[in-house]
Amino acid sequence: MQWWNDAVFYQIYPRSFQDSNGDGVGDLAGIESRLDYLAALGVDALWISPFFKSPMKDFGYDVSDYVSVDPLFGDMDGFKRLLSAAHRRNLRVVVDLVLNHTSDEHPWFREAQESRDSPKHDWYIWKPIPERGPRRPPNNWISLFELRSAWYENPASREWYLATFTRNQPEVNWRNPELREAMYGVVRAWLDLGVDGFRLDVATGYFKDELFRTNPFKPRLVPDLLQEHLYDRNRPEVHGIFRDLRRIADSYGGRVLIAEPHGQDRALAASCHGSAGDELHMAFNFEFLTRPWGAAAFRDSARRWYEALPPGAWPNFTLSNHDQPRHIHRYRRGAETEARARVAAAMLLTLRGTPFLYYGEEIGMGCVRLPRGALRDPLGIRTWPLSGFGRDPERTPMQWDASAGAGFTTGTPWLPVNPDHPVRNVAAQEGNPDSLLAFYKKLLALRRKTPALRSGDLEFLGEDPDVLAYRRTPAEAAETRKAGSDSRGPAVLVVLNFAGGRKTFALPEGGRVLAGTGRAVGTRVEGGTVGLAPCEVLILETEGRSR
Ligand code: GLC
Repeated sequence: MQWWNDAVFYQIYPRSFQDSNGDGVGDLAGIESRLDYLAALGVDALWISPFFKSPMKDFGYDVSDYVSVDPLFGDMDGFKRLLSAAHRRNLRVVVDLVLNHTSDEHPWFREAQESRDSPKHDWYIWKPIPERGPRRPPNNWISLFELRSAWYENPASREWYLATFTRNQPEVNWRNPELREAMYGVVRAWLDLGVDGFRLDVATGYFKDELFRTNPFKPRLVPDLLQEHLYDRNRPEVHGIFRDLRRIADSYGGRVLIAEPHGQDRALAASCHGSAGDELHMAFNFEFLTRPWGAAAFRDSARRWYEALPPGAWPNFTLSNHDQPRHIHRYRRGAETEARARVAAAMLLTLRGTPFLYYGEEIGMGCVRLPRGALRDPLGIRTWPLSGFGRDPERTPMQWDASAGAGFTTGTPWLPVNPDHPVRNVAAQEGNPDSLLAFYKKLLALRRKTPALRSGDLEFLGEDPDVLAYRRTPAEAAETRKAGSDSRGPAVLVVLNFAGGRKTFALPEGGRVLAGTGRAVGTRVEGGTVGLAPCEVLILETEGRSR
């Protein structure tokens, strides 16, 4: 077991977490001032979305200096202070490296675009524009955030450069050894500073097809935009880079590498671990972000994810992030909405695998439709008035209290604060033992002290369409085996009623309530048929020792 196997990660979108200087944008000092909150919540590690120098065309995912802090967020000393303050509280810090593309304002690109003879020209991906005839782009690859061809003209060299997000994010050429070394230098620089690992943005996109073949048609609009991304990403050459990155990380020890595979494909995510276990430690499987509400859908998805992973690879789960509508919004259903959020939280924090929380989900922050004038995300602006594409709604400021700026800022927030913040905020929920926040804290504390939940095996119980149930049995870790089998601790039964109505469930054995909704902790529940309240969460410690 490594620290990240049984850690709970918490993703911070730095623009939106806490502003410390009144400019309406969150910053690193703001995050530092909230570390006590995060430690008390009970998470173990923070993933902070990019805070590096950036023209902010994609809000930090367009980096113009990799080893720096954008003045909007603070400075390098501020980052060092944040890192050591987090470490003092036993919170690890993972930074978000965007190595698939730079900003078009990165000095590397500036130099590369000057001419075909520039020493850095080959650090990016180019195709000549024909001297005569129609200027048809070399293939059908698309810019996902501009909804047009991914090839953009560079008049100085009479070429197109490739950019598959916005035009301001030119893709680098990982086939060039100097570029590769420069990127590894970036990785080492952050490891030298003491960060605990990386989330690797668009990690499966680093390589493009050498022959620049046209992507085949795929009859699915979202998220692939009618293409199967066979040739512009997800090429096999990427595994060599993953192995290099792993060697670098291993040479420091105790650091974690987490891939963002580009595509909602569990096989692709699984492949990032490498069949010999020598590639990335974890890769996001985004299936939970698109599942409909229901026990069967999640059971099926989790089961297939466990099966897809190569031997030795460790699963992870996430319900929300900065690119998709928040799950409380996706699964909203009138008065039942918050009860569903509890079911979702209990599932995320008790399944076998590393959970990733997204800031604000612990208080049930939702999404609101923003007026055209308030939109900031290039994709949202491009697709307006359609909703569901733009990513601003899931990036609104953290709701700390009922004040005008929600305790997030004393200035004008860069995105509007959700109008429900006077009632839905941290301060209000901290004083309420029945709040969603209190429920998350209880689950996180239970998880931390229960080996079966942190690292145990998982066995699904039954195939009920509405009730997701599983037994977590402590793993036979070598250390605990030495101390005798009793030290493995009890097994835990998790029973989650996804239905908004009462249900019965055949409990294979009895136990005592560890946590849940509706039954007091410590209450005995007999084995056999048990009646479940609508959206009930029931987490039991079994009586016998683990089987
Ligand atoms: C990833 C990020 C997303 C970003 C894109 C381009 O998908 O999660 O927010 O816009 O990469 O860097």
